[in-house]
Amino acid sequence: MAVIPVILAAASLVLAQVTSSTAPTTPPSNQTGRLPALGWNTWNAYQCNINEAKVLAAANQFISLGLKDAGYQYINIDDCWSVKTRDSSGRIVPDPTKFPNGINGVATQVHNLGLKMGIYSDAGTATCAGFPASLGTELIDAQTFASWGIDYLKYDNCNIPGNWTDAASPPGGDWYNSNSGIRYRQMTAALATVSRPIQLDICIWGTAQVWTWGARVGHSWRMSGDASPTWSFIMSVMNINVAHLDTIDFFGHNDMDMMEIGNGNLTIQEERTHFAAWAFFKSPILLGTDLGQLSTDEIAIVTNKELLAFHQDANIGTPAKPFTAFSGAPTTSPPEFYSGLSSKGTHVFIINTGSSTATKKFTFSNVPGLGTSGNFKVHDMWTGQDLSGTFTASSSFSISVAAHDTVAYLITKV
Ligand SMILES: *[C@@H]1O[C@H](CO)[C@@H](O)[C@H](O)[C@H]1NC(C)=O
Ligand SMILES: *[C@@H]1O[C@H](CO)[C@@H](O)[C@H](O)[C@H]1NC(C)=O
Ligand SMILES: *[C@@H]1O[C@H](CO)[C@@H](O)[C@H](O)[C@H]1NC(C)=O
Repeated sequence: MAVIPVILAAASLVLAQVTSSTAPTTPPSNQTGRLPALGWNTWNAYQCNINEAKVLAAANQFISLGLKDAGYQYINIDDCWSVKTRDSSGRIVPDPTKFPNGINGVATQVHNLGLKMGIYSDAGTATCAGFPASLGTELIDAQTFASWGIDYLKYDNCNIPGNWTDAASPPGGDWYNSNSGIRYRQMTAALATVSRPIQLDICIWGTAQVWTWGARVGHSWRMSGDASPTWSFIMSVMNINVAHLDTIDFFGHNDMDMMEIGNGNLTIQEERTHFAAWAFFKSPILLGTDLGQLSTDEIAIVTNKELLAFHQDANIGTPAKPFTAFSGAPTTSPPEFYSGLSSKGTHVFIINTGSSTATKKFTFSNVPGLGTSGNFKVHDMWTGQDLSGTFTASSSFSISVAAHDTVAYLITKV
């Protein structure tokens, strides 16, 4: 019975918060989400066919496969974890067949391995798969998640009531104050009432110009619809993302969606590009496969120390951005040449977007920040080896890149 005042408080909080002038402006927690998340999520591997054993298997594989040592932390449960009706106190109830020890039972075991636990809900009347969602029940749901030991919330965008949808553009183009923005702000405010820091992913599929307000509301925000294990998806989400790189920094990350490494028919070169691009754009990297099925080569990709160090750099929050490789270089969509800074120096990433092996080249002085004088050394981030030779600012660097592959370099002054 002690929970009843909580429910009433939740209801009155929400009813008072439906217009842009009364909606909460609470910022997201600054105790979590400074760097892009590294973890795993159930959806791409299992969709609704989830249970405690599969979630704990992934957590244990984080240890046995070296993923935890590489920096992976989050074990996230996606849609379909609950039963369809709330209990008499209004709380969402974990499905007792899938999760006989509840979500808190799983979370305890995940925490005992030194990892963090994520859950899923939706800013509408039901989740995408038709389970209870959190629009209008943000406070009780945030409190329930916190009481279970949840550290991360993926907050989806299905089943939006008609009066919560948006016109093509809100007044003044102000999407923070749109109905979409307010639906998410209500959850940010609810999460701020619990003592546990909970990282918030705004899973709004690249709508409502979320990159313009995402960092005021959550820690990451989805840039597109759902991933598929295809080269065309990797190219399409990169194309969306390259137009919005200026909003990425500490505490705010464009989410290019969960990883497909290990799924479908991606080649090993395409998997390298998938991982490298998510790393150099500082997207959350949430593996989305049965980890026990990953090959040695795939594990080497997702645990590559140098790409993960770029992604998790404690001093530099900005992503790599496209640059013009040499004067008169052809343009492609998405671009093939990217550069960015890390604590170690300047990096160059080159993607062969074409369907056959090709020679790619760049001039050192064209790489932003390297300048027009001095000698340079090139280090291969995939192999951890320095390339032989030194280069001058006017040197042209040439490399043969396999179809759909990405090379990754650290360039330092000699
Ligand atoms: C973190 O947020 C709290 C609460 O809003 C604020 O008091 C504090 O100054 C913030 N800390 C930093 C380092 O921004
Ligand atoms: C939509 O209608 C519901 C139910 O009446 C109400 O609680 C909510 O505040 C409304 N939303 C907006 C944006 O007006
Ligand atoms: C993978 O290739 C097989 C055989 O060509 C095809 O049947 C299947 O649909 C492909 N899977 C995906 C996810 O593209």
